[in-house]
Amino acid sequence: MTVDVILGLQWGDEGKGKIVDYLANQYDIVARFQGGPNAGHTLKFDGKKYVLHTIPSGIFREGLLNLIGNGVVIDPITLSKELDELTAANVSFQDRLLVARKAHLILPTHRYLDAASENAKGKEKIGSTLKGIGPTYMDKTGRNGLRVGDLFSEHFEKRYQALRDKHLHLIKLYPEVDFDLEAEEQKWLESVKVLKSLQTVDGEYFINQQLEAGKRILAEGAQGSMLDIDYGTYPFVTSSNTITAGVCTGLGIAPSKIGQVIGITKAYCTRVGGGPFPTELHDADGEFLRKEGAEFGATTGRPRRCGWIDLPQLKYTIMLNGVTQLVVTKIDVLNQMPTLKAATGYHIDGKFHDQLPYDLCDTKIEPEYKAYDGWEASLDGITAFDELPEKAKTYIHELEKELNVPITMISTGPERKKLITREVEALI
Ligand code: GDP
Ligand code: IMO
Ligand code: MG
Repeated sequence: MTVDVILGLQWGDEGKGKIVDYLANQYDIVARFQGGPNAGHTLKFDGKKYVLHTIPSGIFREGLLNLIGNGVVIDPITLSKELDELTAANVSFQDRLLVARKAHLILPTHRYLDAASENAKGKEKIGSTLKGIGPTYMDKTGRNGLRVGDLFSEHFEKRYQALRDKHLHLIKLYPEVDFDLEAEEQKWLESVKVLKSLQTVDGEYFINQQLEAGKRILAEGAQGSMLDIDYGTYPFVTSSNTITAGVCTGLGIAPSKIGQVIGITKAYCTRVGGGPFPTELHDADGEFLRKEGAEFGATTGRPRRCGWIDLPQLKYTIMLNGVTQLVVTKIDVLNQMPTLKAATGYHIDGKFHDQLPYDLCDTKIEPEYKAYDGWEASLDGITAFDELPEKAKTYIHELEKELNVPITMISTGPERKKLITREVEALI
């Protein structure tokens, strides 16, 4: 058996949660492989809405196991809040949620450092979610981090104090920020008890044994490929590998074990936080997309920046991820638009380019656009591709032709059922 992958091809918030939740009942295990509570994955079904940050989006499907893999960074406080919400929704998780022992812990002082470092950057700030992601991955690669498995060591308290003291020393390098460390530490220590009550596993053995046993596994990405630490719009990125390669390190599986790679793109594009965004719209169309698409962050509530879909950007992330099928979400948001646009290349210093330049931050880019007719009709009640308005079909066919990957799912609304599938079963 192989591991199928679902991940975002833009700057995050492509609708990963919805698609994972939809597909989850075709799998035995859903596993998160990177990121942490900077993620906000929204699921809507039976008239209810849930936002998950650390827990995989398969948790609402009965009988399915959900693994928080070793590539994820875990804040016990956020995790324990998410678990409370599951309990309130009558979702049992004790037997179905597993945590990899090698996953790193986000300490209160990691969040404190995140806040202090962002504040010190002033206008240059990344626009971090301030969940402590950067400092935690820094401690991981710097070989100072604490992992879930360490919680069970008799030396844990000593190691915690040592790391905390080191952080407090570092914080002195930055201008002061408000942070109630004592209160946060108290919450953290309480939440650690909840984390310790969960089932922990050696994730790499677990996942490979499950593969051997013929179980179907879906890896759920967080963020998007343009936020990847290596290939994103550095330094305006997150601190993990958000691309397919991250599945191997984040779960402990070999590259040969990767199966289908399902890449998700919105029918337009958004970004939240700082950093370059070549097709961003600062006009009425951008405002329309934000309003119509309810483009406000699921984790921070910040308004998302909106713009047209960017084909060279998507070709780049399709290449990096080895995408085998595409999902286009939020097509309904375009229902009222008379004309749609897609960037086909960039003008840089008077020359046309169809590839992303080395640096998007300090390069002046003028996108070239191709225009498409809008369908100007509601997609309500449409469940099959053939029922879509002709102009919507043309838009999808054009994207497919440009990107050279089959579009197997088209999402027409936030609810689980609002999805058009095109021979997807045959591919999975
Ligand atoms: P994720 O981080 O990739 O899981 O995406 P988010 O949950 O942060 O953001 C996607 C938002 O779009 C959520 O509010 C979803 O409920 C919503 N959504 C997902 N698919 C669709 C769609 O096809 N149409 C509309 N209108 N909203 C959608
Ligand atoms: P999901 O999984 C959108 C962005 C932040 C910031 C940058 C670095 O819901 O798609 P970090 O907190 O990681 O230090 O922030 O990355 N960012 C996201 N943007 N969706 C996300 O996750 C994001 N996670 C981080 O806004 O610009
Ligand atoms: Mg999100």
